[in-house]
Amino acid sequence: MSKNIATSTSGLISRMNANSKNEFKNYDAWIKDLLMSHISVPKECLDIGCGVGKQTILIHDLYPFSNITSVDKSQKSLDTISDLFPSARINLIRSDIDDFQNYCTKNYNLIISSYAFYYSKNMVDLLIKYSKYLEKDGMVLLLGYSKRSNLEIINVINQSNTKKIPFYKDFLSLEELDLLKEHFLIDVSYFDNKIGFNGLSDFQQWFETSELLSKSENSNQVLRDISEFIQKNGAFLVTKETLSIVLKK
Ligand SMILES: C[S@@+](CC[C@H](N)C(=O)[O-])C[C@H]1O[C@@H](n2cnc3c(N)ncnc32)[C@H](O)[C@@H]1O
Repeated sequence: MSKNIATSTSGLISRMNANSKNEFKNYDAWIKDLLMSHISVPKECLDIGCGVGKQTILIHDLYPFSNITSVDKSQKSLDTISDLFPSARINLIRSDIDDFQNYCTKNYNLIISSYAFYYSKNMVDLLIKYSKYLEKDGMVLLLGYSKRSNLEIINVINQSNTKKIPFYKDFLSLEELDLLKEHFLIDVSYFDNKIGFNGLSDFQQWFETSELLSKSENSNQVLRDISEFIQKNGAFLVTKETLSIVLKK
């Protein structure tokens, strides 16, 4: 994905707020459960594609003795973290995800990446590199879109598009996971969540920061269709299923 509203700092903050306000289940609570059930207290943590710090702050608060190295290519997003959440335990590094030598300068107990790892040009290669920097008792936790993500909106968009857009695929395929089996023990799960919109303006706010907007040939028609749906049914629900991949040595 090129630099656009979907990855810009303001787009990220706006979508984060819209998701938190409208999500049925709590994404952060689910991440905490995953962390607690898979590892003991991690000392050194790495947050890849940290954005404005949602997971960095979660880890910072959950583990008061941890150090967190947070990496993103957007200086503006990193500045947002240092302005809003200054902490001696957070080390911010501006880097492309694939330039791992910029940030893999020590071993980590936890490497986390939420809705960012697929920006790597070669996820499998990068994970094999990470395996050398992962402590024996540590884990890599990757979170991202699944094949069912946003399916309701894609259906609506495709009603008006002449060029149909495809449904999502899991961000890391079974074939790619197979290539990692000799380096990691792998545990895959899905977090089945929904975002509910009971008014058009809430939906519009969310849609304006979504990459799906640029794929809609007629976004006004999409908004009319969703508005009609909300009037008839009381709400429009969008699947926000997250694929989670836990990798351990
Ligand atoms: C959807 S946001 C996720 C932010 C955060 N992890 C969260 O879940 O709220 C994706 C982030 O990946 C960053 N990003 C995109 N491509 C990148 C790349 N090639 N290298 C490093 N970061 C990248 C963007 O700047 C953005 O902050």
